[in-house]
Amino acid sequence: MRQNTNTLYQIILHRYVTTVKSHRLRTTWLSRFRHQVRLLLLCVYINTHNLHFYILFSFGEDILVNLPPVEVKENDVCVKMIAAPINPSDINRIEGVYPVRPPVPAVGGYEGVGEVYAVGSKVNGFSPGDWVIPSPPSSGTWQTYVVKEESVWHKIDKACPMEYAATITVNPLTALRMLEDFVVLNSGDSVVQNGATSIVGQCVIQLARLRGISTINLIRDRAGSDEAREQLKALGADEVFSESQLNVKNVKSLLVNLPEPALGFNCVGGNAASLVLKYLREGGTMVTYGGMSKKPITVSTTSFIFKDLALRGFWLQSWLSMGKVKECREMIDYLLGLARDGKLKYETELVPFDEFPVGLDKALGKLGRQPKQVITF
Ligand SMILES: NC(=O)c1ccc[n+]([C@@H]2O[C@H](COP(=O)([O-])OP(=O)(O)OC[C@H]3O[C@@H](n4cnc5c(N)ncnc54)[C@H](OP(=O)(O)O)[C@@H]3O)[C@@H](O)[C@H]2O)c1
Repeated sequence: MRQNTNTLYQIILHRYVTTVKSHRLRTTWLSRFRHQVRLLLLCVYINTHNLHFYILFSFGEDILVNLPPVEVKENDVCVKMIAAPINPSDINRIEGVYPVRPPVPAVGGYEGVGEVYAVGSKVNGFSPGDWVIPSPPSSGTWQTYVVKEESVWHKIDKACPMEYAATITVNPLTALRMLEDFVVLNSGDSVVQNGATSIVGQCVIQLARLRGISTINLIRDRAGSDEAREQLKALGADEVFSESQLNVKNVKSLLVNLPEPALGFNCVGGNAASLVLKYLREGGTMVTYGGMSKKPITVSTTSFIFKDLALRGFWLQSWLSMGKVKECREMIDYLLGLARDGKLKYETELVPFDEFPVGLDKALGKLGRQPKQVITF
């Protein structure tokens, strides 16, 4: 069986490497990338009769590309992608600042949902029409069709809203693991986190609440932070403070009825990380899983000597690489069940594939605060 796929980001990643090699200007590359993407006008033409896909690229002048066919081998499943998000780590991978760099040319995207389109002759577990996600997630979801071995795919309940199915792994699973893996938490405990408006942060709030755990949430000062505070409270946040509100001598004095947290999450760095540390009780642990401000974490000497704080890190990809396929899929089903039942919510915005450059600008924060951008195919 022959099946064609298109690989828009193959070209972008290839150009990136060429740029780095020829000019050795790695640090300035992102702005080059943005410029190139803006130049790129994309249309996809699909001839459904003979399954040939054509992509029209424009880098100043139009080029019609008929991509080479991909064979669906006997153990392969060909999936027609439905949706895939643009996560911060996708951008980091393209920037070349992520510890794992796929060999280029490579296709962007690390999670998403699709519908089985065709299966190889030895595939028993899937049928055309099934909804699947790559689980554990794997690179290359920003394509209209993906052909990978049967073992890559996990069949999911089609009753789950598509935008949740597309985004359930990277962020919700991170929130779940971080609540489970570092400190034994009991009902009545509390956790503190910065970057609370992120999808991970919103999931922490909701998953903690389901366990009877309170959350102290820190957000940055920006236009719309009052609305953000109300939205987080509506999700179940107990306390929400903007950084400027915490410009006081004793931040804990602002906690009226909550216990001091033993666990904190940091995805921002800089002052926002210092604030998380200030909230932790003696012997507490701060887990860093992101660095949105790109600022380093500074820890006072007294935090170590007199509070004996511990600093840890979490990386989902590392956790997944420890033979966790079964556990990962069980947790995904659990999280999808919560989403289907309306117990796990976060905002997404669907972006048609041909409007990708706008979605990318939004994901990069260039148009102000935006919901998670999810490409639809
Ligand atoms: N380690 C892992 O395995 C793992 C897994 C998943 C995610 N992550 C990381 O978790 C973080 C959140 O991911 P996400 O997809 O949930 O985020 P998201 O929904 O895309 O939201 C981005 C978050 O970052 C904040 N932010 C953006 N720029 C910032 C800046 N310059 N300074 C401070 N805050 C800034 C935003 O705050 P506003 O609302 O104020 O804009 C928002 O809270 C990212 O760093 C991501 O790489 C790590």
